[in-house]
Amino acid sequence: MKSKIESLKSQALTALKAAKSDSEVRDLEVKYLGRSGQFNEIMKSLKDLSDEDKRTVGKLANVTKGELETAILKKYSELEMVAFDVIADKEWMDVTVPGTKPGVGHRHLISKFIDDLEVVFGRMGFAVAEGPDIETEHYNFDQLNMPEDHPSRDMQDTFWVKNLKRMVLRTHTSGVQIRHMEAHELPVRVISLGKTFRKDSDATHSPMFHQCEGLMVDTDVSIANLKAVMTDALQQIFEDPAIKTRFRTSYFPFVEPGLEVDCTCPICHGEGKLPDGVPCRLCKQCGWLEIAGAGMVHPQVLENVGYDPTKYTGFAFGWGVERVYMMKPNVNIPDLRILYSSELSFIKQF
Ligand code: PHE
Repeated sequence: MKSKIESLKSQALTALKAAKSDSEVRDLEVKYLGRSGQFNEIMKSLKDLSDEDKRTVGKLANVTKGELETAILKKYSELEMVAFDVIADKEWMDVTVPGTKPGVGHRHLISKFIDDLEVVFGRMGFAVAEGPDIETEHYNFDQLNMPEDHPSRDMQDTFWVKNLKRMVLRTHTSGVQIRHMEAHELPVRVISLGKTFRKDSDATHSPMFHQCEGLMVDTDVSIANLKAVMTDALQQIFEDPAIKTRFRTSYFPFVEPGLEVDCTCPICHGEGKLPDGVPCRLCKQCGWLEIAGAGMVHPQVLENVGYDPTKYTGFAFGWGVERVYMMKPNVNIPDLRILYSSELSFIKQF
């Protein structure tokens, strides 16, 4: 019996040594130490031995069983170490390698330009006024002398808001001027900058674009003041003190007279061509750029907000932010849609 135990032990240890996986070890565990395993068989057969042998053989069997249990546990942990080594080989990493730096973005080009415009007009004493993107028909049209049947409403292809009675995505920022005048005493000197919306989409029109609009109302405000403000602002924006402006008569229902403001082209300086004779692409050789709509605030509009048009006068102007931004000589892009395209190779240039 003793020699059987010894030989079982050496058999088990040899098999254990050769085992290559957890499941092989588990099979050996069952084979030798399991409920109907080899050692239990020995235990069962002890009953046929003499009392003396029962004691010695039983003890040997128990000690050997304990040794095998320890050897099995050791084998499990050896196999675990081998598995860790494999993982370490496969998944190692060098924590000292410098990391990939996350790209640092910047504000949208148009947001930055809006900041610049606020600084330019801020220097001339203009405060910034804000209003809602979704506007009432009352502020977007009626108060601006554009009643329901007025043909001028057709000039602005409007997005009406479904299920919201008489609400529109504002077609211009002029409604902000009305809200501001209603809420403030004279004198008034504000600009409003923000999103505007029209059913229009091509290389130079986007259904969402930004406007920059200015308003100054006081006693004795004249077109001369408008011209001074426009000229100074454009010289600062294009960073060129030689920029000149000119005014042409035009029509907007909320101003009288209505004007179009042009300025000399900041690339060819009004020549229509570059010094080497190459035709100027920006102004299409005309030497002038159309910049803004403007005019003297219509007396009816002043009356609408409770100002006395016999005592006060004012000017207003408005332009497309993207349009003017695209004309800056250091920007000079032909298609405004790229500004909203998330095209990194373009954005990274600025
Ligand atoms: N609100 C006009 C537009 O969107 C621009 C404008 C503003 C014209 C102020 C004159 C005076 O077209």
